[in-house]
Amino acid sequence: MNGPAPVEILRQHLIDPEICIRCNTCEETCPVDAITHDGVNYVVKADVCNACMACVPPCPTGAIDNWRNVLKAEAYSIEEQFGWDELPTQNPTVGAPGASSGAAASTAAAASSGADASQAAAAASEGDEVPGSGSDMVRGATVPPWSAARPYVHLYTHKTPTTATVVGNYRLTDAATESDIHHIVLDFGTMPFPVLEGQSIGILPPGKSADGRTHHARQYSVASPRDGERPGYNNVSLTVKRVTRDYGGNATDGVCSNYLCDLKKGDVVSVIGPFGSTFLMPNHPNSHLLMICTGTGSAPMRAMTEYRRRRRLKGATGKLMLFFGARTQQELPYFGPLMNLPKDFIDTNLAFSRTPGQPKRYVQDAMRERAPDVAHLLKDGNTHIYVCGLKGMEDGVLQVLGEIAQAHGMAWEALWERLKREGRLHLETY
Ligand code: A2P
Repeated sequence: MNGPAPVEILRQHLIDPEICIRCNTCEETCPVDAITHDGVNYVVKADVCNACMACVPPCPTGAIDNWRNVLKAEAYSIEEQFGWDELPTQNPTVGAPGASSGAAASTAAAASSGADASQAAAAASEGDEVPGSGSDMVRGATVPPWSAARPYVHLYTHKTPTTATVVGNYRLTDAATESDIHHIVLDFGTMPFPVLEGQSIGILPPGKSADGRTHHARQYSVASPRDGERPGYNNVSLTVKRVTRDYGGNATDGVCSNYLCDLKKGDVVSVIGPFGSTFLMPNHPNSHLLMICTGTGSAPMRAMTEYRRRRRLKGATGKLMLFFGARTQQELPYFGPLMNLPKDFIDTNLAFSRTPGQPKRYVQDAMRERAPDVAHLLKDGNTHIYVCGLKGMEDGVLQVLGEIAQAHGMAWEALWERLKREGRLHLETY
């Protein structure tokens, strides 16, 4: 005799709209195109997601790591998810996949089994294979360097933001250039806001979008070291480029970048975060930093460099090598201060793409020119690589690292896996 049809329960993968900062990392990472977005929310297609977890470690806020048990036939559609301001609560009458009698767990549910980013990271640090950590899925490390300090994350959220006062806002780029990049200093007063170099914060711009919703937070890397933009002060700096064009090159005013670039001293901003627990610097004195960036991607490099400069340890053998790309010298943020750093402290290599009368030069070209020195660093187990800036640069940089490795007798695929496993290759591109 046939029994009742089995009730299929799905452990549905969802994104928390209250925490998500709409950075698009998950959509770019998903190997099966299960993630999509509209003007409001990032959502997961229940029928496409296979819970491979590839998107979980790269998410800067952890918004991606949310799961609800639902009857498979009643999985939340993407249209429902687009309308959410917050996640639905777990329906207590729907059991765990495979737990209730007669329930057939979906493959997606079985694969996810409740793992979260921190577990994945912990597994990786112990040398286990992390689901979705293959180089075809996650290209950078999902664990921090072994000697990184422990970061604080999510101290302030959309529901409980804190405030900071603007104590400085300076244009970094030549006024005659198109690139309007600002150095903005925010002071938290007596509110604790501990950050490490490489972490980011979220800014909540005031006002509402065209559909009447409050703006979601925009994420910015901190450009100052852990002890403050001004040592001993409870302040951080950001490097913000005024957005005047969308990705298609059409004129548009970026909501948050314009808000930030127009701030005056004394203005008060709403802040959430800090975010980020992997793109962190090593703390052992013989660790080397190989830093590759374009434009505002220089923010974390400035933070790390400044930390190392303030704390130059006697006898420390760690080297700093920087490749920094910009359109022109006048559009390179922090050009002056960078040039003033002693040559025996940092090996700086600039690449300008739009200098009149000069051939286009990208960071990859500069790296090729310095191949023997890059190879020397690649061979050293104390080298930590940081890439931050334009998305388009990521492919080119990984390719040139591969070329240099191979040309100097290193098997790149194996080295790449090792760099990721050991938290020594960090990518943050947008
Ligand atoms: P380009 O002149 O081709 O735009 P931006 O000022 O837009 O933030 O860009 C910073 C620098 O990064 C510019 O010199 C820009 O060159 C360069 N860039 C653009 N695409 C790439 C890429 N795929 N790889 C490396 N650098 C790039």
